[in-house]
Amino acid sequence: MSDLGDFSEFEADSEPASDSATEAEAAETTEESDPGAATGADRSGGGSGTSESADSGSGSAADEFDRQRFETAGADAGIGTLAVSEGLRIAEDEADTRLRAYVTAGNRSDVRLGTYLLAPYPGEESLFCRINGLEYAQEFRSDDATEIHARRAMRSTDIDERDYKFMADLEPLAVLYPEGGELRRRMPDRVPKPETVVRHADDREKITTGLQIPEEGVFLGHLAVGGEKVRTKAEPPTVDYRLDDGTEGTDPLIFRHVLVAGGTGSGKTHTAKNVLRQYLHEDRRYAVEPGGDRTPRPAVVQFDPQDEYAQMHDDNPAVGPDERREWEAQDVAFGGHADTVAFVPTVGNARYAADHHKAEQKPFTIPFSMVRGNKWLVAGAQLNDNQYGALEYLIDRFFDQAGESPTYDGFRHFLDDPALREELDESGRVHEATFDAVKRRVFSIPQGVFDQDARPITELVREFVRPGRLSVVPTYHINTSRAAEMVVLAVASLLIDQKLSNDPLYDRIKETPLVVGMDEAHNFLADADSVQARKVIGKFTEAAKQGRKERLGLFLITQDPQDIAEPVFKQVNTRIALNLGDEDAVASLNLPTSLDARVPDMQRGQMAVYSPDNSKPVEVIGLPTCVTRHGRDG
Ligand SMILES: Nc1ncnc2c1ncn2[C@@H]1O[C@H](COP(=O)(O)OP(=O)(O)O)[C@@H](O)[C@H]1O
Ligand SMILES: [Mg+2]
Repeated sequence: MSDLGDFSEFEADSEPASDSATEAEAAETTEESDPGAATGADRSGGGSGTSESADSGSGSAADEFDRQRFETAGADAGIGTLAVSEGLRIAEDEADTRLRAYVTAGNRSDVRLGTYLLAPYPGEESLFCRINGLEYAQEFRSDDATEIHARRAMRSTDIDERDYKFMADLEPLAVLYPEGGELRRRMPDRVPKPETVVRHADDREKITTGLQIPEEGVFLGHLAVGGEKVRTKAEPPTVDYRLDDGTEGTDPLIFRHVLVAGGTGSGKTHTAKNVLRQYLHEDRRYAVEPGGDRTPRPAVVQFDPQDEYAQMHDDNPAVGPDERREWEAQDVAFGGHADTVAFVPTVGNARYAADHHKAEQKPFTIPFSMVRGNKWLVAGAQLNDNQYGALEYLIDRFFDQAGESPTYDGFRHFLDDPALREELDESGRVHEATFDAVKRRVFSIPQGVFDQDARPITELVREFVRPGRLSVVPTYHINTSRAAEMVVLAVASLLIDQKLSNDPLYDRIKETPLVVGMDEAHNFLADADSVQARKVIGKFTEAAKQGRKERLGLFLITQDPQDIAEPVFKQVNTRIALNLGDEDAVASLNLPTSLDARVPDMQRGQMAVYSPDNSKPVEVIGLPTCVTRHGRDG
């Protein structure tokens, strides 16, 4: 069948539809002026279009005039109006709320899912909403899912917007109202009037009030929709997204913990550096006891498996004068942080090379004495409960008789004693087989972790944790992941134990607000069926729970958020998702639907921020440039 054949059939079929569709026909001037095209030929073939526009006035000139008028009205007053024909209802149950706006033709190209809009009430109140659905609906009943229609469309370059309705579903977020010279918000509790003109929210105060974004706090980036920064009439036009830092007597959100999740190369470390740098701002201070008047600067300790964070000591050479000016104006902390020290674990003969940063280096070692309080450190994943009980007994017995300087070598020597083995077996204390299993385990831990030729970390506490200092613990140079894990867990435990202790050995840790950053956190905080995992998870969960009171904030960074043990994860209040492709990983973040679907398509720098005690869930764009040095070739 030829194309022409198709067309003749189409004309016959479509006749009834065009009869009832006078306005659409009247609007078809563009096609008519292009008679060479198949579409034009077809439509004018219907005849009614031409005759009806002639009836209604003076042909194409009148139509052009009409078109102008529509667009001017749209641009001046808003993007469209609330439609009652589609239901107009605000309900207690969100599922029953129905709020739809007809978007006029000229405005359709700049509304997006997520776009923030305002619908005023009579008087001074307005409804702040966001678009959570967009739909083309038919203006007139006709079937455009047909061969003929599709072919026609394929030959023309554009559709006529006015053939279709363009409807936006709105999610009401807040009623905004002035009170005592200030803008306030409350739950949506009024329904706007039919035909209310809705417009883009372009007033900074309305946006921040509507989304409950704090005016002050730690800078994370700029509010965005669909990868574009939200622009307002203010100067600068962008809207800062900041994390509440206790400015209004609230608890600084860092002490309720932050998780940054994203795939490899999505910008986790870049983002983490930009955020952590803010905590090192010289004006940032926290009361040691909530509400107390001693307010030192926080110390930041960063565990660093890829050896990237000591670079925060240095300026980013890529920062230009424009950015510098912008950051200064926006009160963003930037530039190398001079008080950055790399605390380098000495492990066996592993060499640490530091030609990529200029931070001071301090070697340290883990003293075996720390094992007394953290026996699981030498248990690894293999011991069962019975064996672990035996290990605990043996460690205590060893420490009781070891005197001044208990060492790992000393412990090995202690276990290497057939008389001890026999004695314990005969007394029924530790079965021979159990003894052997424990001994094997202790002997098989990586060599070179304990008691190396460097100062024990326990003697370096006052340098390691210091207000305003960034202490970085690089572990990339360590040969085995098990050894690196032991070092990280030993040092992290020292910090947590001292923070939580009622009778701390090191007042410094107890008395300094502390941010503990951990990159590749899934490697340390994964759930597993082992004594070590249970102890570690228990410890971090407790730390997280006490964080507010003790001024301890966890800043976890991971590409596998689904691997972070649930009890720890549940304590994390602020979740930041960069691009993350893995379905399970995205699901584990439990983001609200408005953010969830976007995470797999995020561009670099784009992030979903879900921090329910800070703001409504929003999209944010982080700074495209790292405020300190990042990367080895820059
Ligand atoms: N917002 C951003 N804009 C531009 N480049 C970025 C952004 N975030 C990260 N990058 C760059 O992308 C690369 C990978 O980022 P990085 O943070 O190291 O990734 P990862 O998620 O693996 O830690 C780096 O070169 C970094 O500077
Ligand atoms: Mg990284």
